[in-house]
Amino acid sequence: QEKRYDISDKLELIDEQLLALLKKAGRMADSLDFDLYIVGGFPRDLVLGQVNHDLDLVVEGDGIEFARELSKELGGHLDIYHEFGTAVVSLEDLKLDIATTRVEYYPQVASLPEVEHGSIQQDLFRRDFTINALAIQLNQASFGQLVDYFSGKKDLEKGLIRLLHNFSLYDDPTRIFRGFRFASRYDYNFEENTEDLFKHAIELDVIEKLSSDRLFNKLELGLKDRNPVRFISLLDEYNILSYFSPGIEWNHETEILENNVTKVLDWLHDLEIVTSFEEWVLYLIVLVHGLNETEIKDFANKFNINKNLFDRLMTSLKADKYIRILHDAEDNSAIYYLLQGLAIEDMLFLLIKDFSLEEEIKLYLEKLQWTDIEVSGEEIIALGYSPGPIFREVLDEVRKAKLNGEVETYEEEKEYLEQLLAERESE
Ligand code: CTP
Repeated sequence: QEKRYDISDKLELIDEQLLALLKKAGRMADSLDFDLYIVGGFPRDLVLGQVNHDLDLVVEGDGIEFARELSKELGGHLDIYHEFGTAVVSLEDLKLDIATTRVEYYPQVASLPEVEHGSIQQDLFRRDFTINALAIQLNQASFGQLVDYFSGKKDLEKGLIRLLHNFSLYDDPTRIFRGFRFASRYDYNFEENTEDLFKHAIELDVIEKLSSDRLFNKLELGLKDRNPVRFISLLDEYNILSYFSPGIEWNHETEILENNVTKVLDWLHDLEIVTSFEEWVLYLIVLVHGLNETEIKDFANKFNINKNLFDRLMTSLKADKYIRILHDAEDNSAIYYLLQGLAIEDMLFLLIKDFSLEEEIKLYLEKLQWTDIEVSGEEIIALGYSPGPIFREVLDEVRKAKLNGEVETYEEEKEYLEQLLAERESE
């Protein structure tokens, strides 16, 4: 049953340029006698008071023809995907995904759907959850009306994730992960029947149908989303963690560590130093850090984990040892020689486990890691020595002295160097 809502107050949130573009698209559809809607994340988030820049348009008519005309009018770049009946119009700073409204039939569990043209209602019904099955009409006479066939607006207001039909998760098991992602992102709950459908599908092992690549990608998306900790706790609640590794345990301690990730990321942010790493990786390290070496290797093999990530997971095995060494470090050089072998993710993991090391790690990141000495082998040669192992040894001593603040200027480095050489001479 179709319901229409006036959402003018929400339309005001859209910036003028985007609003003008949507209106132009609506008039273009009018001229071709097509009905045009924006669907998916955009209407969902707009009802929630946020502007999503994923622009998915559907045309009741011919999507490709509409895309052609629109790109002519707007002067953007047009890509057509005939096999899917979709097109993308790319403008300078945004892109429009355009499709013809369609029905989908899934011949088997997790198979590719067979597709036919359908009405807007059918197009919305083939989607995952009621909150994602809203549309906003863009044609001039109805511009900005929220079109709601499945009470998606009510579910958004009540904070409920509700499947549109009973086969949804068998058609596409990745929707299980999408459900967890939306539930965690918006802090929503599952509607009762949907919760049962999730449990049944999971009991019937539909997740087994997904390739490891897809499975890992769904985990990654959840860890990159707004509330990775709740996402993981939902994976645990629905017994899905074991698909990633039988050894993964979600307990009170892991939950505390996962919650520490945000704290450590905020701390790092306040330091204002330049680092580059992917934040979601920290949530992953915490999630799998209880695994032993063999389990980590199996996990890495199964999911084709890249070398850098694998190294981070392996390093996490030694975290407790590193934490002890840092606590026992007597001077800056001891901190330096431990941390210089670690990646930023490794150091942050140490902090996640033991935040009392913040001073040591801050000192390293802000200062020690940039410590360089100015004297080199040239100075030693100039003093009449021929190159040999002693060069390395004394230069290392100078570096240690510099890290510990015992020498600072070039002159002091050089003086200390001469002193060291003289001591060795007299030995
Ligand atoms: N969709 C679906 N089943 C999937 C993936 C997508 O039914 N497995 C539908 C949903 O209706 C969704 C729309 O396709 O709203 C667009 O998908 P996508 O852009 O991936 O997701 P968004 O809902 O926009 O989510 P996000 O905010 O995470 O981008």
